[in-house]
Amino acid sequence: MDPIKLFYPIKTLDGKLLLPAGSELNDESLRELLASNRPVKLKTYPLLDHGSVKIDLFDFLDNAPYNIIFADSDCLAEILDVMKSIRFGAPVLEVLDFFKHHDVSTYRHMLTIFALTILIARDLVPNYRKRVSEIAYGPTHDFGKICVPLDILKKDNPLTREELNYLKHHTISGYVLLSYYFRDPRSIAAMVARDHHERMNASGYPRGISQQDLMVEIVAVCDVYDALISARPYRPVSYDNRTALELLTSMAEKGEVGWRVVKSLIAHNRSSKPQLADTIASREKRGTPPADNLYGKLSDDELVR
Ligand SMILES: [Fe+2]
Ligand SMILES: [Fe+2]
Repeated sequence: MDPIKLFYPIKTLDGKLLLPAGSELNDESLRELLASNRPVKLKTYPLLDHGSVKIDLFDFLDNAPYNIIFADSDCLAEILDVMKSIRFGAPVLEVLDFFKHHDVSTYRHMLTIFALTILIARDLVPNYRKRVSEIAYGPTHDFGKICVPLDILKKDNPLTREELNYLKHHTISGYVLLSYYFRDPRSIAAMVARDHHERMNASGYPRGISQQDLMVEIVAVCDVYDALISARPYRPVSYDNRTALELLTSMAEKGEVGWRVVKSLIAHNRSSKPQLADTIASREKRGTPPADNLYGKLSDDELVR
C-alpha cells in the first residue's frame, strides 16, 4: 500500500494511541505496530448471544423494507443459522456496546449490514456457508468510527470540510485497528473497513482506487442502501425504498458499483422473490428523494458528490 499521511489520530476504544496525527502509515509503521501487540489468541464469543444483539437485530429487521427482504422464512432461518456461528473477540463486542449506548443509528447500521451482507453473500458467494469467517463484515466495516468524535457522527446540520475529512478517516482507522487486533493487515475484515467507500470506477475514498473485490462490493452496496432507507442525523426522513433502489441502479449505471449486488437487493425486495438470473433492474427513475437531505452538503453549501 502507498504511504498515507494521517491527519487524525488512531486510538483504541480504551484510548491507547496506535498512531498519532501527523504520522505516516506505511508498510513499516504498520509492521511495527502489529509487532507491538502481544501475540495472545483472542477469545471469541458468538455475536448473537452477546447482550441484547439478537433481540435488537430482530427488532430492526421487523421494520420495512427489511420485513419484505427477509420475508422468506426458510431463507431467514438459514441466515440465522449462519449468523449463530459467527464469533467475535471482545474488541468488536465492546465497540458494538459503545455505539449501542452512544450512537444507536451506527449500532443499528452495524447489525442490519451484518444480516444483509450474509443474505447477499448467499446469492453471490459460492459455498458461502463454508466461508462464514469471510462474509461477516457487517459489524466491523465501520469499526473505525470509534476514532471519529461522536458530535461529528451525530451532527444534524451540514459538516464543515474538516469534519467531513475526519468522518472519512474511519476507513483508514478501521483498517489499522482491525489489522492490529487480528495482527494481519491482509485480513479481509481490515480490507473491507478500508475499502468499503471505494468505487469500481475509482470515484470513492480514501485512496480513489478501482475497487474490484466481491466481498467489499457486497458491503459497499448494502452500506449505501441501509444508509438511504434509514433516518440519519443529516436526513431525518429516509429515502423511500423505490427511490433508494433507483439510486443504487444509477450508481451501477455510472460504474460506481457492480450490477450483481444491486440486482440481488432488488430481487429480495420483490415479494415474488425472483431468481437472480431472472431479475431485471428497471432503468426508470420515478422516485423522489426526501427533502431536507444534508448528505453531501458542506456547511458552506458546497456540493461534495
Ligand atoms: Fe463507512
Ligand atoms: Fe457503513
